Amino acid sequence: MQLPDPVDCFRHKLLQWYQLAQRPLPWRDKPSLYSTVVSEFMLQQTQVKTMLPYFKNWMRRFPDFQTLAKAAPETVLKNWEGLGYYSRARNLHKLAKAFIQLSQAPQSPEEWQNLPGIGPYTAAAISSIAQNFPAAVIDGNVVRVLARVCNQAQPFSSNSQAVQSFIDAADTLLDPNHPGDYNQALMELGATVCLKNKPNCQHCPLRSHCLALKVNPQHLTSLPSIQRPTIQKIEIDRALILSSKKILLHRIPDNAHRLAGQYEIPVLQNLPLTRPTQKPHTVKTRGIANQRIKESLFLFRQATEITCPSTYDWIHFDQLDQITLSGPHRKWLNQLLPAL
Ligand code: ADE
Repeated sequence: MQLPDPVDCFRHKLLQWYQLAQRPLPWRDKPSLYSTVVSEFMLQQTQVKTMLPYFKNWMRRFPDFQTLAKAAPETVLKNWEGLGYYSRARNLHKLAKAFIQLSQAPQSPEEWQNLPGIGPYTAAAISSIAQNFPAAVIDGNVVRVLARVCNQAQPFSSNSQAVQSFIDAADTLLDPNHPGDYNQALMELGATVCLKNKPNCQHCPLRSHCLALKVNPQHLTSLPSIQRPTIQKIEIDRALILSSKKILLHRIPDNAHRLAGQYEIPVLQNLPLTRPTQKPHTVKTRGIANQRIKESLFLFRQATEITCPSTYDWIHFDQLDQITLSGPHRKWLNQLLPAL
């Protein structure tokens, strides 16, 4: 793979740009090991603008590893409500419990990876940003920047194959003297300048080093070339079951793979109800990863509360704020209940 050169000039321009152009983010103002760990967990799968209010709230509620370790699992989950990918919250909680038992913080990406929820990407991010360890971070934004500056047109069959193929280039380009700022600068450039469809090459600090811009500018936005998985279409019928000012909700068991411990609007076919012949009250569509999900909500008004297995609870409207609901379900109930 051809790398941009000279490498020290490439690093210098990137870091100089980062000093001036970085977004003022709270974990950058007052960096600490804890705030770096929390921000990196939240930034797995989530954009900065979405996680920012959650980060601020989290740091108020759980200001350090000790406080987080001692918190009840329901409180931890409640403060993650709406961010999605809830195994991150459970792992962060487990990590805090493990961390406070250690005699010293992990000292390398390999040691960080022994803790829950930490893979190679998060390990490199935490150890470079908070501990100045020379480990290169490769996320989706970094893959895009590197594919372009190296003019790497090879098609990749998946995101992880693309990440693998840039490991050597990323290690060579990393500034070993400023690994944290260098990694954050590359991620920041991908998030704010080297955009997928509308890159702002005119204002890019790396424009004089960018091989795609030099060799094949009209094809720059086709890089990286990553095969996307086919979209799977899923249809789910759900039951909005009301009885006076209460709603029947399903509590997802603690050992479930996804959304454990959260409430959701129940799936119709799991209840002793028949699917009404009339149209659903509301239809919602959303996308998660490679799935396109269409959810039809049917309204049932019951004179008396039907009895259901122990994983179902009748929740009074006034108590909805106290339970943890899966993000989209909270949004739907906020929209629908006032009119019902
Ligand atoms: N994405 C993940 N971690 C990041 C960070 N520290 N800065 C910018 N983007 C990120």
